[in-house]
Amino acid sequence: MRAKKVLGGVVAVGLSLALTACGGGRGSDDNKASSGDNKGALIGVAMPTKVSERWIADGDAVKADLEKAGYKVDLEYANNQIPQQVQQVGNMITKGAKVLIIASIDGGSLSDQLDEAAKQGIKVISYDRLLTGNKNVDYYVSFDNEKVGVEQGTSLLQGLGVVDKDGKDLGKKGPFNIELFAGSNDDSNSAFFFKGAMSVLQPYIDKKVLVVKSGQTQFNQVTTLRWDPATAKARMQNLIAKSYSGGAIVNGVLSPYDGLSLGIVSALTGAGYGNGAKKLPVITGQDAEVPSLKSILAGQQYSTIFKDTRKLGHQAATMTNDLLTGKKPEVNDTKTYDNKVKVVPSYLFPPVVITKENVQTDVIATGYHTQAELDK
Ligand code: GAL
Repeated sequence: MRAKKVLGGVVAVGLSLALTACGGGRGSDDNKASSGDNKGALIGVAMPTKVSERWIADGDAVKADLEKAGYKVDLEYANNQIPQQVQQVGNMITKGAKVLIIASIDGGSLSDQLDEAAKQGIKVISYDRLLTGNKNVDYYVSFDNEKVGVEQGTSLLQGLGVVDKDGKDLGKKGPFNIELFAGSNDDSNSAFFFKGAMSVLQPYIDKKVLVVKSGQTQFNQVTTLRWDPATAKARMQNLIAKSYSGGAIVNGVLSPYDGLSLGIVSALTGAGYGNGAKKLPVITGQDAEVPSLKSILAGQQYSTIFKDTRKLGHQAATMTNDLLTGKKPEVNDTKTYDNKVKVVPSYLFPPVVITKENVQTDVIATGYHTQAELDK
C-alpha cells in the first residue's frame, strides 16, 4: 500500500520534470525567466562536499532543472572546508548571481556573504540545511527533519522487535543495549534528527527496555563533527572498549546518516560482530546511498531513510524561477525553522524509511539508483 503511494509521488515528480523540460518549468507562456530581465540569469549553487554521493546527486538535480529553465549555473563544492565555501559564495555574488542556493557546511558561517547578498538584492534559498543567525535567508527547502529522526528511532525499535511494523508495542522487556550517534553540531538538521529519534526512544530508555550502557545520551555527547565516518568509527571502537569489555553486547545503534553507519559497522565487525553468534546490532541510517543499500541487502545495516534529492533539487529550481519571475514560491511550513533570527518559510518533503523489504519497490523502482549499481 505504502509502496504504491510513494510510486505515485515519484510519477508526479517525473511528470513535472518532463513539463520543466519542455516548457521551462512553469509553462512556456508564463515563463518570464526566458523573456524578462532575468533571462539567462546566473544562479549560484553551493554544495558542501563530494565525499557523500547524495550531494553530487543534489547538485546535478538542481543544475539540470535550472538549465532546463534557461538559467546559467555556477555549481561549487567546498570539500567540507568552511573557508572554501565562504569564498565560493563570495565569488558567486561578485559574478552577479541573482539567486543563491546554499547547502552549508556550518549553517552559521556565511553571515557576511548573506548580508552582502541582501544589499545587492540577491535572494537566498537555504538548501536541505538551514542557514542560521542571519535574517537574509528567504526560503528553506528540505525534508521534514524531525520526522526523519522519528522514523530512525522507530525503525531501531522495529529492528529490535520492540514495536511492530505499525509502531505497536510488542511488550518486549529487553533490556537491549543501544548506543546513540548524532550528526555534525554545526548542522541544524542534526538536532532535529536527534530530537525526533529521542522522542520515540526516551520512553523505552525510561522503562529500561533500552539501556545506553555508555551513559552518553545528551546531544552534545554524541555529535560527529562534519558527519565524518572515521570519527564515528573511532567513537564506536571507543564505546566497545570502554562499555562492552565485560561480555555485554551492543544490540542497536542509532545512526543518523549512512556514512556514519558504515563507519560504525566497520568498528563492530572489527570487534568480532557479524561473525557466528555475535550478531551485528540493528543500525539505522539516512540518504539511501548505494554502499548502505548494499549493506542492508547483505544484512548488515538495518535501515536507511530515502530522501529523493531529485524532488529537492526540482523544488529549489522552481522556487528560484518563481523568485525571478515575480511569483511567490510555494511553502508548506511557516513555523518550524527558526534560524535564531527569523522563522524561515519552508517547503518540506516527507522522508521514506527503507529496509531490506522495500529497497526494490521504494528506491530501485523509482530509478533513483539502478539494480546495476547494487550489483557492482
Ligand atoms: C544532513 C542531511 C543528511 C545527510 C547529512 C550528511 O544535513 O540532511 O541527509 O546527508 O547531512 O551529509
